[in-house]
Amino acid sequence: MPSAVPQPVVARLTRAAIFLVVTVNSGPESDAAVRGLCADLSSLLRAVGFRDLQGRLSCVMGIGSSIWDRLFGAPRPKDLHPFREVRGVHHAVSTPGDLLFHIRSTRMDMCFELAAQIMPRLGSVVTVVDEVHGFKYFDDRDLMGFVDGTENPVGADAERATVIGEEDAPFAGGSYVIVQKYLHDLARWNAVPVEQQENIIGRHKLSDIEQLDAAKAPYAHNVLTTVVEDGDQLEIVRDNMPFGEFGKGEFGTYFIGYARSPRRIEQMLENMFVGRPPGNYDRLLDFSHAVTGALFFVPSASFLDDVEPEPAPDAVDLPGASTPSTNESLSCPAGNDGSLGIGSLKQGAKE
Ligand code: HEM
Repeated sequence: MPSAVPQPVVARLTRAAIFLVVTVNSGPESDAAVRGLCADLSSLLRAVGFRDLQGRLSCVMGIGSSIWDRLFGAPRPKDLHPFREVRGVHHAVSTPGDLLFHIRSTRMDMCFELAAQIMPRLGSVVTVVDEVHGFKYFDDRDLMGFVDGTENPVGADAERATVIGEEDAPFAGGSYVIVQKYLHDLARWNAVPVEQQENIIGRHKLSDIEQLDAAKAPYAHNVLTTVVEDGDQLEIVRDNMPFGEFGKGEFGTYFIGYARSPRRIEQMLENMFVGRPPGNYDRLLDFSHAVTGALFFVPSASFLDDVEPEPAPDAVDLPGASTPSTNESLSCPAGNDGSLGIGSLKQGAKE
């Protein structure tokens, strides 16, 4: 049995991205439209991506907690829950979102074209609650002027950080993603001396070299986002993007973090917003405030490929299910080895 093929969560960082967060209206026709798209997403991606392979087009689709049961029934990914707001010195808000589309390419036109193929498939069954068109700013900097993404794990390390394995066997190959849209007060930030900005981030601004550990402020962003458990650093894969609109006077960073468990990202947020220890919070937040916050499960690409537009008539009971089966069932064929039996259609389509 081939193992599940993950969605491209560890795709190489690109210079353009579109982030679309939508809510899905209630009703069976809405669910059918979403399920239909799940199955066709990889073929849309192939068709648009093939127009320029150098464009490295990719798309990750995430499913929110409140819509999972409606779409797929039991079992549920074991750590799927709504985004938990954090109230500390600053506030990480929780905002609505049933589906996330994270579209990346070296070319914005390819991102746009894929979104233009996806959205009519969903038509009026969804409401777009947030849409951000992001770009990389000069040498991969955010609008605060710092290079963003340097310490991301790559290759096998990135996969280890993001792809679910045996800990939730029915959903192996999946991942979790948290998104937050931050708005910056750039006028105030740019008035801060560069040396102090560097202490807030924990890196040198021009060279992007990390400060020596002994020289870092206890509140540095890269100190508070370092989470160690049993001697191991718990990593995540980020692909933040700057965005801005002059007419609205809005300039910010769209934070996106993938991990095999949401807990490690939640711990980072707690360290940033509440502080570690409490009160020793991330000073970046004095200049940036989060206006959205949502958590999604990212099923494997194999899982999405095998979704059928209509729910299967009989519930499928799977070992390791975290909730009892309901009449709404997963329409993936179950393997007799306890796996979902996913992956075959995807492979077939690719070959
Ligand atoms: C306003 C929003 C944010 C901005 C502008 C920002 C910017 C940066 C920058 C410039 C770096 C240093 C370079 C790098 O390694 O990428 C960094 C590192 C990092 N950030 Fe953020 N970040 C933001 C929000 C977040 C959030 C919400 C999290 C997690 C919940 C996070 C997690 C991390 C991690 C894990 C690192 C690497 C730390 C290390 O190992 O050195 N960031 N960020």
